[in-house]
Amino acid sequence: MINVLLVGAGNLGRRHLQSMKNSVEPLNIFVVEPFEAAREQAEKIFRETKSDTVEKVVSFHRSLEKIDRTIDIVIDATPASGRLDILKQVLALGAKDLLLEKVAFNAVPDIEEASVLIEKYNARAWVNCPRRLNPFYIQLRETLESSKIERFEVVGENFGMACNAIHFIDLFAFLAKKANYHISLDKVSEILPSKRNNYIEFFGEITGTFESGPEFELACQQSSNEVGFKIRIVTLDEEYVIDEIAGNVEIIKKDGGKEVNSFRQPYQSELTAGLIDEIISKQMCGLTEFSESMALHRPFISEAYSLYASKNEKNSLKMVPIT
Ligand SMILES: NC(=O)c1ccc[n+]([C@@H]2O[C@H](COP(=O)([O-])OP(=O)(O)OC[C@H]3O[C@@H](n4cnc5c(N)ncnc54)[C@H](O)[C@@H]3O)[C@@H](O)[C@H]2O)c1
Repeated sequence: MINVLLVGAGNLGRRHLQSMKNSVEPLNIFVVEPFEAAREQAEKIFRETKSDTVEKVVSFHRSLEKIDRTIDIVIDATPASGRLDILKQVLALGAKDLLLEKVAFNAVPDIEEASVLIEKYNARAWVNCPRRLNPFYIQLRETLESSKIERFEVVGENFGMACNAIHFIDLFAFLAKKANYHISLDKVSEILPSKRNNYIEFFGEITGTFESGPEFELACQQSSNEVGFKIRIVTLDEEYVIDEIAGNVEIIKKDGGKEVNSFRQPYQSELTAGLIDEIISKQMCGLTEFSESMALHRPFISEAYSLYASKNEKNSLKMVPIT
């Protein structure tokens, strides 16, 4: 049996757990979550999820110290601050395949230390930016191969520009097949407490450009409305306006022709089982491979820390509280 360790069974962790019930593999799942209420909720969802795949063994634990088995696969669904310590502990448990939630690390020194550790332990890791798994974006990536991408934009309100920037940078990198970029946070006008305690959010604009293009912009305003945003992709031949919330994409051709198609982003509870099965059978998966994701995290986390430190006190960890 493959031993899978889920660290953190909060809002997202419990969805990873729910999905694991549908893995085709006979998993032995260890869940580590310090809060009893979160453990109970995760257990309830797991029990209530129907599945016609092989039986899974699941056990719940308060802390990583309670795990005395060699672990094969880890899913780390804890908040970003503290992830490096968890990485050290799970690597010591023998884990060779790791799925890390985004934001993977919120300090550049942590990114560097984690990169050394992953290599030292000969482990494989991926960061969960799941738009890369969506058939709609996979198809769009193929379509975009035949025309030059000029610009990416995400414009909206209340969409959590600090904690979600890495999702969009990852998507742009995936679509443009590029990883080197320059970013500016000069037009971020406000840094406000996030809804999540001890974390922050950015409002205003983030601009950037990949090496020899395309350029990109994230623009997020605060308002009394719900979360709302649209992704716009401009190429030489056409423009795509993607509304993930409504689940549609408008394609506007240069000759004025228009087409609207629908799509949906699968829930995490529909994704994790497939990722685990792929890792077990092929030692790979469709998420962003660790070193590529670190190349995408580095410029953003570095600039986000500089901005944060310019308005607050510097900290020795060089940590910007985003997750
Ligand atoms: N990939 C995505 O699309 C996506 C979506 C939502 C959230 N996230 C990310 O997932 C992470 C978790 O988000 P969430 O909304 O589930 O948060 P959450 O606060 O609901 O859950 C985090 C859980 O981790 C637990 N935890 C903290 N430290 C721990 C430790 N040392 N050992 C074991 N458990 C520990 C907490 O008790 C909590 O229950 C964040 O980094 C967030 O940004 C990613």
